[in-house]
Amino acid sequence: MELPLEYFIKLRNLIYERTGISYEENKIYYVKKRLHQRMEMAGFDRVEDYIRHLKIFDPQGREFQQLMNLLTVNETYFFREFSQLQVFAEYCLQEVIKHKAEANNRTLKILCAGCSTGEEPYTLGIILREMIEHFSSWEVFIKAIDIDENVLVAARKGVYDQRSVKDVPPSYLQRYFTSPSKGEYAIEQTIKDMVVFEHVNLMDRRALRYEEDYDFVFCRNVLIYFDDVSRKQVVDKFYGLLRGGGYIFLGHAESLSRISSAFKIRRLSNHIVYQR
Ligand SMILES: C[S@@+](CC[C@H](N)C(=O)[O-])C[C@H]1O[C@@H](n2cnc3c(N)ncnc32)[C@H](O)[C@@H]1O
Repeated sequence: MELPLEYFIKLRNLIYERTGISYEENKIYYVKKRLHQRMEMAGFDRVEDYIRHLKIFDPQGREFQQLMNLLTVNETYFFREFSQLQVFAEYCLQEVIKHKAEANNRTLKILCAGCSTGEEPYTLGIILREMIEHFSSWEVFIKAIDIDENVLVAARKGVYDQRSVKDVPPSYLQRYFTSPSKGEYAIEQTIKDMVVFEHVNLMDRRALRYEEDYDFVFCRNVLIYFDDVSRKQVVDKFYGLLRGGGYIFLGHAESLSRISSAFKIRRLSNHIVYQR
Protein backbone atom coordinates (compact mmCIF):
# COMPACT_ATOMS: atom_id res chain seq x y z
CA MET A 1 0.00 0.00 0.00
CA GLU A 2 1.20 3.49 -0.82
CA LEU A 3 0.62 6.43 1.51
CA PRO A 4 0.93 9.60 -0.58
CA LEU A 5 2.10 12.60 1.43
CA GLU A 6 -1.24 14.35 0.81
CA TYR A 7 -3.12 11.59 2.66
CA PHE A 8 -0.49 11.25 5.34
CA ILE A 9 -0.99 14.95 6.10
CA LYS A 10 -4.79 14.62 6.16
CA LEU A 11 -4.56 11.70 8.55
CA ARG A 12 -1.90 13.37 10.68
CA ASN A 13 -4.08 16.47 11.04
CA LEU A 14 -7.06 14.38 12.10
CA ILE A 15 -4.99 12.51 14.72
CA TYR A 16 -3.51 15.75 15.99
CA GLU A 17 -6.91 17.45 16.36
CA ARG A 18 -8.34 14.54 18.29
CA THR A 19 -5.41 13.37 20.41
CA GLY A 20 -2.70 16.04 20.50
CA ILE A 21 -0.21 13.51 19.11
CA SER A 22 1.82 15.16 16.40
CA TYR A 23 3.56 13.09 13.67
CA GLU A 24 6.41 14.73 11.76
CA GLU A 25 6.89 13.74 8.12
CA ASN A 26 9.75 11.42 9.10
CA LYS A 27 7.17 9.22 10.86
CA ILE A 28 5.41 8.41 7.59
CA TYR A 29 6.69 4.80 7.53
CA TYR A 30 5.72 4.20 11.15
CA VAL A 31 2.20 5.46 10.45
CA LYS A 32 1.94 3.71 7.09
CA LYS A 33 2.73 0.28 8.52
CA ARG A 34 0.08 0.50 11.25
CA LEU A 35 -2.46 2.20 9.01
CA HIS A 36 -2.08 -0.61 6.49
CA GLN A 37 -2.55 -3.21 9.23
CA ARG A 38 -5.70 -1.50 10.48
CA MET A 39 -7.15 -0.95 6.98
CA GLU A 40 -6.72 -4.63 6.22
CA MET A 41 -8.51 -5.62 9.43
CA ALA A 42 -11.36 -3.20 8.73
CA GLY A 43 -11.64 -4.22 5.05
CA PHE A 44 -10.45 -1.04 3.29
CA ASP A 45 -8.27 -0.98 0.13
CA ARG A 46 -7.94 2.74 -0.47
CA VAL A 47 -6.50 5.23 2.01
CA GLU A 48 -8.81 7.99 0.82
CA ASP A 49 -11.87 5.80 1.60
CA TYR A 50 -10.51 4.97 5.02
CA ILE A 51 -9.85 8.62 5.90
CA ARG A 52 -13.34 9.57 4.66
CA HIS A 53 -14.77 6.81 6.81
CA LEU A 54 -12.94 8.13 9.89
CA LYS A 55 -14.14 11.67 9.25
CA ILE A 56 -17.76 11.06 8.26
CA PHE A 57 -18.96 7.53 8.98
CA ASP A 58 -17.41 6.96 12.38
CA PRO A 59 -19.38 9.35 14.63
CA GLN A 60 -18.61 7.45 17.84
CA GLY A 61 -14.92 7.26 16.92
CA ARG A 62 -14.85 3.45 17.21
CA GLU A 63 -12.70 2.91 14.13
CA PHE A 64 -10.50 5.87 15.02
CA GLN A 65 -9.94 4.29 18.44
CA GLN A 66 -8.90 1.00 16.82
CA LEU A 67 -6.35 2.85 14.72
CA MET A 68 -5.01 4.71 17.77
CA ASN A 69 -4.66 1.43 19.66
CA LEU A 70 -2.09 0.47 17.02
CA LEU A 71 -0.39 3.85 16.70
CA THR A 72 0.41 4.78 20.31
CA VAL A 73 3.89 4.06 21.65
CA ASN A 74 3.46 2.14 24.90
CA GLU A 75 7.04 1.52 26.02
CA THR A 76 7.19 1.35 29.85
CA TYR A 77 8.56 -0.73 32.73
CA PHE A 78 8.50 -0.79 36.52
CA PHE A 79 10.67 1.81 38.31
CA ARG A 80 11.44 3.64 35.07
CA GLU A 81 13.70 6.67 35.74
CA PHE A 82 14.58 5.35 39.14
CA SER A 83 16.45 8.44 40.40
CA GLN A 84 13.46 10.67 39.67
CA LEU A 85 11.26 8.29 41.63
CA GLN A 86 13.75 8.57 44.49
CA VAL A 87 13.24 12.35 44.49
CA PHE A 88 9.50 11.77 44.60
CA ALA A 89 9.77 9.21 47.41
CA GLU A 90 12.34 10.93 49.58
CA TYR A 91 11.48 14.62 49.19
CA CYS A 92 8.16 15.45 47.60
CA LEU A 93 6.10 12.64 49.08
CA GLN A 94 7.52 13.20 52.55
CA GLU A 95 6.81 16.94 52.36
CA VAL A 96 3.23 16.42 51.21
CA ILE A 97 2.56 13.70 53.78
CA LYS A 98 3.91 15.88 56.56
CA HIS A 99 1.76 18.88 55.60
CA LYS A 100 -1.34 16.80 55.18
CA ALA A 101 -0.87 14.91 58.44
CA GLU A 102 -0.45 18.25 60.22
CA ALA A 103 -3.71 19.43 58.67
CA ASN A 104 -5.36 16.17 59.71
CA ASN A 105 -6.00 15.25 56.10
CA ARG A 106 -4.94 11.68 55.50
CA THR A 107 -5.94 11.30 51.88
CA LEU A 108 -3.49 11.14 49.00
CA LYS A 109 -4.48 11.46 45.35
CA ILE A 110 -2.25 10.73 42.39
CA LEU A 111 -3.00 10.99 38.69
CA CYS A 112 -0.91 8.85 36.36
CA ALA A 113 -1.57 10.13 32.84
CA GLY A 114 -0.47 7.94 29.93
CA CYS A 115 -0.11 4.92 32.23
CA SER A 116 0.28 2.40 29.40
CA THR A 117 0.20 -1.22 30.66
CA GLY A 118 0.21 -0.22 34.33
CA GLU A 119 3.84 -0.53 35.39
CA GLU A 120 4.06 3.14 36.38
CA PRO A 121 0.94 3.42 38.60
CA TYR A 122 1.76 0.09 40.27
CA THR A 123 5.33 1.32 40.86
CA LEU A 124 3.83 4.37 42.58
CA GLY A 125 1.63 2.09 44.67
CA ILE A 126 4.69 0.12 45.82
CA ILE A 127 6.55 3.32 46.67
CA LEU A 128 3.64 4.66 48.72
CA ARG A 129 3.37 1.34 50.54
CA GLU A 130 7.08 1.40 51.35
CA MET A 131 7.53 5.07 52.15
CA ILE A 132 4.43 6.11 54.10
CA GLU A 133 4.59 5.43 57.80
CA HIS A 134 1.36 4.10 59.27
CA PHE A 135 0.22 3.43 55.74
CA SER A 136 -3.09 1.88 56.84
CA SER A 137 -4.19 5.19 58.36
CA TRP A 138 -4.05 6.83 54.90
CA GLU A 139 -6.62 6.74 52.15
CA VAL A 140 -4.71 6.43 48.90
CA PHE A 141 -6.16 6.79 45.41
CA ILE A 142 -4.24 6.43 42.16
CA LYS A 143 -6.14 7.19 38.98
CA ALA A 144 -4.37 5.83 35.92
CA ILE A 145 -5.51 6.86 32.45
CA ASP A 146 -4.60 6.13 28.85
CA ILE A 147 -6.05 6.67 25.39
CA ASP A 148 -5.18 3.13 24.26
CA GLU A 149 -7.83 0.56 25.21
CA ASN A 150 -5.56 -2.44 24.71
CA VAL A 151 -2.96 -1.30 27.23
CA LEU A 152 -5.70 -0.77 29.81
CA VAL A 153 -6.83 -4.38 29.45
CA ALA A 154 -3.25 -5.52 30.17
CA ALA A 155 -2.92 -3.01 33.04
CA ARG A 156 -6.04 -4.30 34.78
CA LYS A 157 -4.76 -7.84 34.42
CA GLY A 158 -1.44 -6.86 36.02
CA VAL A 159 0.69 -9.77 34.83
CA TYR A 160 4.14 -8.95 33.44
CA ASP A 161 7.21 -10.51 31.87
CA GLN A 162 10.85 -10.38 32.88
CA ARG A 163 11.55 -7.26 30.78
CA SER A 164 8.93 -5.22 32.67
CA VAL A 165 10.28 -6.07 36.11
CA LYS A 166 14.02 -5.90 35.31
CA ASP A 167 14.50 -2.74 37.46
CA VAL A 168 12.37 -3.82 40.40
CA PRO A 169 14.58 -4.18 43.50
CA PRO A 170 14.74 -7.91 44.39
CA SER A 171 13.17 -7.45 47.83
CA TYR A 172 10.18 -5.66 46.27
CA LEU A 173 9.89 -8.34 43.61
CA GLN A 174 9.53 -10.87 46.38
CA ARG A 175 7.09 -8.82 48.42
CA TYR A 176 4.80 -7.37 45.76
CA PHE A 177 4.65 -9.99 43.02
CA THR A 178 3.57 -13.59 42.72
CA SER A 179 4.61 -15.87 39.92
CA PRO A 180 1.60 -17.58 38.34
CA SER A 181 3.92 -19.45 35.95
CA LYS A 182 7.57 -19.38 34.93
CA GLY A 183 8.64 -15.96 33.64
CA GLU A 184 5.37 -14.30 34.72
CA TYR A 185 5.06 -11.74 37.49
CA ALA A 186 1.63 -10.78 38.82
CA ILE A 187 1.29 -7.63 40.88
CA GLU A 188 -0.01 -8.28 44.37
CA GLN A 189 -3.69 -7.55 45.09
CA THR A 190 -3.18 -4.81 47.75
CA ILE A 191 -1.19 -2.74 45.23
CA LYS A 192 -3.71 -3.49 42.50
CA ASP A 193 -6.51 -2.24 44.75
CA MET A 194 -4.92 1.21 45.02
CA VAL A 195 -5.22 1.88 41.27
CA VAL A 196 -8.28 2.66 39.18
CA PHE A 197 -7.74 2.54 35.41
CA GLU A 198 -9.82 4.64 33.05
CA HIS A 199 -9.96 5.19 29.32
CA VAL A 200 -9.32 8.92 28.87
CA ASN A 201 -8.04 10.99 25.97
CA LEU A 202 -6.11 13.87 27.52
CA MET A 203 -7.06 16.12 24.63
CA ASP A 204 -10.76 15.62 25.13
CA ARG A 205 -12.04 18.95 26.45
CA ARG A 206 -14.38 17.18 28.86
CA ALA A 207 -11.68 14.85 30.18
CA LEU A 208 -10.84 15.21 33.88
CA ARG A 209 -12.91 18.38 34.21
CA TYR A 210 -14.43 17.35 37.55
CA GLU A 211 -11.14 16.14 39.00
CA GLU A 212 -9.59 18.15 41.79
CA ASP A 213 -7.34 18.10 44.84
CA TYR A 214 -4.63 15.90 43.39
CA ASP A 215 -1.34 15.84 45.27
CA PHE A 216 0.74 14.51 42.36
CA VAL A 217 0.46 14.21 38.61
CA PHE A 218 2.79 11.86 36.78
CA CYS A 219 2.79 12.38 33.03
CA ARG A 220 6.08 10.91 31.96
CA ASN A 221 7.07 10.17 28.37
CA VAL A 222 3.67 11.19 27.01
CA LEU A 223 4.03 14.85 26.05
CA ILE A 224 7.07 14.07 23.87
CA TYR A 225 4.55 12.95 21.24
CA PHE A 226 2.63 16.25 21.43
CA ASP A 227 3.44 19.68 20.06
CA ASP A 228 3.68 22.79 22.27
CA VAL A 229 0.08 23.86 21.68
CA SER A 230 -1.42 20.57 22.82
CA ARG A 231 1.18 20.23 25.60
CA LYS A 232 0.05 23.57 26.97
CA GLN A 233 -3.60 22.53 26.87
CA VAL A 234 -2.85 19.37 28.85
CA VAL A 235 -0.52 21.04 31.34
CA ASP A 236 -3.12 23.75 32.05
CA LYS A 237 -5.57 20.95 32.81
CA PHE A 238 -3.08 19.39 35.24
CA TYR A 239 -2.55 22.74 36.93
CA GLY A 240 -6.29 23.01 37.49
CA LEU A 241 -6.64 19.62 39.13
CA LEU A 242 -3.62 19.89 41.43
CA ARG A 243 -4.03 21.35 44.86
CA GLY A 244 -1.66 24.15 45.96
CA GLY A 245 1.69 22.54 46.84
CA GLY A 246 0.99 19.56 44.55
CA TYR A 247 3.69 18.35 42.14
CA ILE A 248 3.89 17.38 38.50
CA PHE A 249 6.51 14.91 37.25
CA LEU A 250 7.42 14.75 33.57
CA GLY A 251 9.84 12.47 31.75
CA HIS A 252 13.53 13.41 31.75
CA ALA A 253 13.40 14.66 28.15
CA GLU A 254 10.39 16.88 28.88
CA SER A 255 10.25 20.37 30.32
CA LEU A 256 7.63 23.00 31.03
CA SER A 257 9.93 25.91 30.18
CA ARG A 258 8.22 26.83 26.89
CA ILE A 259 4.81 25.63 28.01
CA SER A 260 3.82 27.17 31.31
CA SER A 261 5.17 29.63 33.84
CA ALA A 262 2.44 28.86 36.34
CA PHE A 263 4.45 26.26 38.29
CA LYS A 264 7.29 26.84 40.74
CA ILE A 265 10.45 25.12 39.57
CA ARG A 266 12.15 23.00 42.24
CA ARG A 267 15.61 21.50 41.75
CA LEU A 268 15.94 18.45 43.96
CA SER A 269 18.98 16.18 43.76
CA ASN A 270 19.72 17.06 40.11
CA HIS A 271 16.10 16.69 39.06
CA ILE A 272 13.62 19.36 38.11
CA VAL A 273 10.13 19.03 39.48
CA TYR A 274 7.27 21.46 39.13
CA GLN A 275 5.06 22.51 42.00
CA ARG A 276 1.76 24.33 41.98
C1 LIG B 1 5.55 5.83 26.13
S1 LIG B 1 4.11 5.51 27.09
C2 LIG B 1 4.65 6.10 28.68
C3 LIG B 1 4.22 5.19 29.81
C4 LIG B 1 4.63 5.62 31.20
N1 LIG B 1 4.08 6.93 31.53
C5 LIG B 1 6.12 5.61 31.34
O1 LIG B 1 6.73 6.68 31.40
O2 LIG B 1 6.72 4.54 31.42
C6 LIG B 1 3.00 6.82 26.53
C7 LIG B 1 1.54 6.50 26.79
O3 LIG B 1 0.77 7.70 26.61
C8 LIG B 1 -0.46 7.36 26.04
N2 LIG B 1 -1.08 8.54 25.38
C9 LIG B 1 -0.66 9.16 24.24
N3 LIG B 1 -1.50 10.16 23.91
C10 LIG B 1 -2.47 10.18 24.86
C11 LIG B 1 -3.65 10.98 25.05
N4 LIG B 1 -3.98 11.96 24.19
N5 LIG B 1 -4.42 10.72 26.13
C12 LIG B 1 -4.10 9.73 27.01
N6 LIG B 1 -3.02 8.93 26.86
C13 LIG B 1 -2.20 9.15 25.81
C14 LIG B 1 -0.10 6.24 25.05
O4 LIG B 1 -1.22 5.44 24.70
C15 LIG B 1 0.98 5.47 25.82
O5 LIG B 1 0.45 4.36 26.49
